Amino acid sequence: MLLHLKNILTDDELNTARSLLGDRAAWIDGRSSAGVQALGQKNNQQLAQDSEAAQSLRGLVLAAVNRDPLFFSAALPRKVFNPLFNRYSGDSNFYGAHVDGAVLHSRATQQWVRSDISCTLFLSDPASYEGGELVVQDTFGEQRIKLPAGDMVIYPGSSVHRVEPVNRGERIASFFWVESMVRSDEQRRLLFDLDMNLLALRKRHGETPETTALTGTYHNLLRLWADT
Ligand code: NI
Repeated sequence: MLLHLKNILTDDELNTARSLLGDRAAWIDGRSSAGVQALGQKNNQQLAQDSEAAQSLRGLVLAAVNRDPLFFSAALPRKVFNPLFNRYSGDSNFYGAHVDGAVLHSRATQQWVRSDISCTLFLSDPASYEGGELVVQDTFGEQRIKLPAGDMVIYPGSSVHRVEPVNRGERIASFFWVESMVRSDEQRRLLFDLDMNLLALRKRHGETPETTALTGTYHNLLRLWADT
């Protein structure tokens, strides 16, 4: 499932993030964290994980996603791999087709995380740069994604994806992974659909015996499929 989540960050948070990610931030070669397959494809910059800015930015992004009910419903997160930050500009301006590692080690939390879901939170105004689309290949074909600043896309960690060259301006984003309580993308999708339609039904008709029963079905499926 590929899903666009709007307004994950407030304007204030966006301004804070941008000021911490300016030219004086500790940008390093993005290849420092790439696996073997991705290494030859990766040409961007990444914020040094042990910098002070990275620490406060991680907190800011985690707080923002944790308060978003749509993120919770779609991702059913068990662990969120500490958010990282990258920049595409100048000569370091693309990331060719690659797959993300299936299990990743977080330096910040010393935890292993299975990458069920990949997340990209856009921080730059899309009008301020040219190119830089996130291209995700899935069973429905190629999705080209370039979102307003503060918006986020989540997509299956299993997909081949790339970032197109940025030919003007700079594209700054946060990216991270989620290990879900529900490992299967298909099961997660069913739960999300059920949850969204229950919300819509309640809005239209209020609480009815049917919505109560279907909410029970939702939780019983979650109980069958979730690992906590
Ligand atoms: Ni990737």
